[in-house]
Amino acid sequence: MDTIENLKAGTLPTHLAIIMDGNGRWARQRGKMRIFGHENGVKAVRETVENCAKIGIEYLTLYAFSTENWKRPKREVDTLMNLLVSSLKKELKTLDKNNIKLNAIGNIQSLPKKAYTELHEVIEKTQKNSGMTLTLALSYGAREEIKHALQEISVKVKNNIISPENIDETIINNHLYTHNLPDVDLLIRTSGEHRISNFLLWQIAYAELYFMEVFWPDFRLEHLAEAIKNYQNRERRFGKTSEQLN
Ligand code: IPE
Ligand code: IPE
Ligand code: MG
Repeated sequence: MDTIENLKAGTLPTHLAIIMDGNGRWARQRGKMRIFGHENGVKAVRETVENCAKIGIEYLTLYAFSTENWKRPKREVDTLMNLLVSSLKKELKTLDKNNIKLNAIGNIQSLPKKAYTELHEVIEKTQKNSGMTLTLALSYGAREEIKHALQEISVKVKNNIISPENIDETIINNHLYTHNLPDVDLLIRTSGEHRISNFLLWQIAYAELYFMEVFWPDFRLEHLAEAIKNYQNRERRFGKTSEQLN
């Protein structure tokens, strides 16, 4: 059985999220500028998106740019934004071919106008696709997301649309950028760092975490398969005992 068929035979994570890390170190290892790493990271994104669609992942969320990443040198930020625009332009065909719907989470309004416009165009053009939902986390920070949700809920409380005693997990969920996505089942982080870096704090409450040494530009189907296979061998108890599950 080939790798993809093999994975399909087991239980798949409905929602897979990836912290794509290590572009800068990958470039430095080769004596190149960090930007070279980002350019090569795009190839890994394309391959991963296609592979996830083929495997049958329903929701794939990629951490592409954090609220904290704005603090990087302007030149690097500009390059990342330009890469975003050029990739969106290039990948529209690939998304359509694979029946993928594009979505974005984060403080999208803070993106440069060109990136914002291109993003919206591709989101609109792929809205009717019914396969995998690909979500890009851009200018995304979980704390900013929670703050934003609280502001929206507060306004509704003030206008008597919601009463404080009725605020529950569903209402909170509905006000997050991820309101149309299920909770994360599997979270992968590459590059050997063991941290979350302000990604999807609410949504990973019961996610399985998988940390890998590989730098993002080197991430291939074999790495994706390794993480999914590992996930398939875990027991998710959600607070219950093992006996209760069987
Ligand atoms: C991940 O790679 C890409 C972004 C955060 C945009 P990094 O740029 O963080 O690479 P390292 O972690 O410095 O190697
Ligand atoms: C997290 O990576 C953000 C993205 C992958 C987009 P960072 O490289 O920015 O995270 P820290 O700063 O090392 O925690
Ligand atoms: Mg990093």
